[in-house]
Amino acid sequence: MRPWTLFIFMLALGTSAAGAGTEINADRARINYMLNCQGCHLPAGEGVGDIPQMKNFVGNFLKVPGGRAFLVQVPGSANAALDDAALAELLNWMLLEISADQLPQDFQPYTGPEVGQYRASPLSDVNAVRLPLIQKIAQLPE
Ligand code: HEC
Repeated sequence: MRPWTLFIFMLALGTSAAGAGTEINADRARINYMLNCQGCHLPAGEGVGDIPQMKNFVGNFLKVPGGRAFLVQVPGSANAALDDAALAELLNWMLLEISADQLPQDFQPYTGPEVGQYRASPLSDVNAVRLPLIQKIAQLPE
C-alpha cells in the first residue's frame, strides 16, 4: 500500500493524519478551500474558462522539477489570506482530495516553513513558469 493511501483513508475517517510532522484537519482545510479558492476553482477543482482544471491533474506538478514550488507561488495560493501552516494544510488536503492518483509515489506533504520559503519569492510572470511545467508533465512517461 502506498503511504498516501493510508493518509487518504485516515482523512476519509475524518481524523487528523500525521506525516512528516504535518497534520491535516480535513474539515478546516475544506472550509479554507471553500472560502479562499472555490470561487474560482469550483468545488472539486474542475476549473472553468481561464481557471485551469486541478481535479485529476494538479498532483502531476509534483513530478516535475519546480512544480512543488509553483503550486505555492501561483498567486491564488501565495496571496491567500492564510498563514503558512494553513496554506500547507490546504494544499496537502487538496492534492489528496482531488488528485491523489497523479501524486508521485514518494509524495511528501508540504510543511508550513517550506510553504513560507516558496511564498517569499512570488512569481512575476505566472505563464512563463507554468507553460514549461505543463510541457514537462506532458512528456512524463505514463
Ligand atoms: C481569483 C481567482 C482565483 C482564486 C481565488 C484562486 N485561484 Fe488558483 N488559479 C487561478 C488561475 C487563473 C490560475 C492559473 C494560473 C494563473 O494565471 O495564476 C490558478 C492556478 C492555480 C494553481 C496551479 C494549477 C495550474 O494548473 O496552474 C494552484 C495550485 C492554485 N491555483 C491553487 C489555488 C489555491 C490553493 C487557492 C486558494 C487558496 C486559489 N488557487 C485561489 C485563479 C484563482
